Amino acid sequence: MTSPSRVSIDIDAAIATVLDTVRRTIIAFPPAEGVFPDDTTNDGEHYPLRHAENGIPVGGNGGWTTSFWPGMEWIAYQLTGDEEFKTAGLAHLADFARRVDAEEDLETHDLGFLYTLAAVAPYRLLGDEEGRRAALSAANHLMNRFLEPAGIIQAWGTLSDPEQRGRTIIDSLMNLPLLSWAYEQTGEERFADAVRRHATQLRVNIIREDDTTFHTFHWDPVTGDALRGTTAQGAADDSCWARGQAWGIYGFALNHRATGDAELLDAAWRCADYFLAHLPEDKVAYWDLVFTDGSGEPRDTSSAAIAVCGLYELADIEGPGERADRATAAADEILASLIEKYRPVSPDAHTVLTQSVYNKRNDHGVEEGSLWGDYFFFEALARHADSAWRPAW
Ligand code: GLY
Repeated sequence: MTSPSRVSIDIDAAIATVLDTVRRTIIAFPPAEGVFPDDTTNDGEHYPLRHAENGIPVGGNGGWTTSFWPGMEWIAYQLTGDEEFKTAGLAHLADFARRVDAEEDLETHDLGFLYTLAAVAPYRLLGDEEGRRAALSAANHLMNRFLEPAGIIQAWGTLSDPEQRGRTIIDSLMNLPLLSWAYEQTGEERFADAVRRHATQLRVNIIREDDTTFHTFHWDPVTGDALRGTTAQGAADDSCWARGQAWGIYGFALNHRATGDAELLDAAWRCADYFLAHLPEDKVAYWDLVFTDGSGEPRDTSSAAIAVCGLYELADIEGPGERADRATAAADEILASLIEKYRPVSPDAHTVLTQSVYNKRNDHGVEEGSLWGDYFFFEALARHADSAWRPAW
């Protein structure tokens, strides 16, 4: 049986443009100086130095997004073998090792995003022992956030914060691959157990009956009882935040791959089918899936790029057949639209994808480039170019 022909994308040209941008941005934010771009651009196409927060000075390695930048350097290295990308990625790794050793800004579940891309990636690609050590240390810090009896990893804040204790968010699914990797490395069952239990709690509670998802969910920290879903970045508690639904597609798929749990694969498909059924004409989601063409609301291209990666992951998991063809065709269509309509125009742009939304509710990073949108767009291109290509997750 032959696969249906695919949407035509000039993938080599798209990748070449991203590689040029990564080269330029390495010069603008020299990795050896330990400086990082901010979460989002501030003029649509250029990143300022990272803002100061939680005691980390301007430009420093704080928050949840800094690893998307070395994540792009490692994809660039995988695709080209060019030493300049490896040198940059290793300089960033040194700073991530310093961050975890100094215990700087580690009170977050985002250790998975941070250390998978900045430390597991060089370990997988080069066997780098510093990467392995830093990533295992981060995985151990992440395990400190696993709460009994709920069996969930707390997303935000300190463990003593009553507002945050017992709360997790759908994005956390993307942080679990760090624990699955730690299990592979150490054989310690506690890592695999946390992945299974946390992913199951999200499958059961964060997906609603109509296949939409809550952004965040609260458990009683004492009894472990599931309490209620809320949002922080969606349009409403009962709406469907587009990026959350995209994290669900990709996150449930990756956790199915790690655990073999068929119900997680089903969860990924439920998220995917709903996402795809609620796209506008040009296939790039508005920031919340309650919005449609004519709403006047901004799109969130980052949710589109994440969904594309999740759909390619689903196609790979399924293997040849109708389901894989369906996932691939949907991913190709979204990717083609991102390439055609959502790339920067200035020749010295730092971002590779325009019009992400960080948080529309507080008007933060709206219609800007974002580090995570850039990373997942590049990952999507690498996956489209070679279906055997594997990310660090
Ligand atoms: N993980 C945070 C966000 O998606 O905005």
